[in-house]
Amino acid sequence: MIILDGKKTSADIKNEIAIEVSKLKSEGKKTPHLAAILVGTDGASMTYVGAKVKACEFVGFESTLIELPEDTSEKKLLNEIEILNIDNEIDGFIVQLPLPKHIDEQKVLMAINPDKDVDGFHPTNVGRMTLDLPSFIPATPFGIMELLERYKIETSGANVVVIGRSHIVGRPMSILMSQKRPAGNATVTIAHSRTKNLAEITKQADIIIAALGIPEFLTGNMVKEGVTIVDVGITRVDDTTKKRGYRLAGDVDFESVSKKASYITPVPGGVGPMTIAMLLKNTLISCKRGH
Ligand code: GUN
Repeated sequence: MIILDGKKTSADIKNEIAIEVSKLKSEGKKTPHLAAILVGTDGASMTYVGAKVKACEFVGFESTLIELPEDTSEKKLLNEIEILNIDNEIDGFIVQLPLPKHIDEQKVLMAINPDKDVDGFHPTNVGRMTLDLPSFIPATPFGIMELLERYKIETSGANVVVIGRSHIVGRPMSILMSQKRPAGNATVTIAHSRTKNLAEITKQADIIIAALGIPEFLTGNMVKEGVTIVDVGITRVDDTTKKRGYRLAGDVDFESVSKKASYITPVPGGVGPMTIAMLLKNTLISCKRGH
C-alpha cells in the first residue's frame, strides 16, 4: 500500500510556483495577488482561509483577506465582489463557502468576474471546463487530478466510482476523469444518496473518489483488492481525548480500506493540501494571462 502524499506533493508544487514567482519578479513583471472574502466566523472556514493566506506568503504572492461580519447583507457582499472584479491589482479571488443562510450563494458566485474566478465555480468556467475549453478548474478536483498524474496512477480505461455529486468536488471530478486528458479517459460512475446497491458498484471500482461528507463511510468490505482510494472528506468529529475537542475524519475508514488498497490518500495530509496548492496555481495562471 502506497500513501498518496498530498502534503509532500503540494510542497513540491508550491516550490515550483515559488520559483516561477521569483522569475516574474526578477523580470519586473507583476506579482500574483490573490484575495479572499470570508463572511462570518465559521471555525473550519477561518482555518482554510488562514491556510490559503499563509500559502500565498510562502510562494511570494501578495494576498488580501477581506473579513466581513456574519450579518453582512448580500448587497454589501456583492459590492465587495465588484470592487475586486475591477481592481487591476487583483489577479484572482475567492468567496469562502459556506455563506450565511441569508445570502444567495448562486447569486454571489455568478457576480464574480469569470476571468478572476480562481475557484472555477462560475457557470462560465464550469461550462468551459465541460466543453474541454481553457478554464479555471476547481481547486479540489484539480488537485486530485494532479495527485493521480504525479503518482502515475493508470486512469485510462479504469473503472472510477465518484461518491458524491457536489458542485465543488463530485460533479467536476466525474467530468474531468471522463475527459481526454492526463488522469482522464476513465469510465466514470457517479454515485450518490439515492444509489442502490452502492457496495456492488464500489467493489467494481479500480479508483474510488469518496466525496460525500460522511465520516468513515467507505469500509474495507466495499472495495476490491488493489483499489486506489482518494478521500476528499474532512469532518470534525467530537473527540474528548484531543486537546482541541475534535479529530479530523475522512469519508474512508482508513483502517479497513488501507489493508486492501494499493494507493490511498490520508486525512489529513491528502487532498486538503493539494486544494490550496492548485488555488495558487490558478492564481498564477490568471496573473500570467493578464486577465
Ligand atoms: N469551502 C470548501 N471548499 C471550498 C473551496 O474550494 N472554495 C471556497 N471558496 N470555499 C470552499
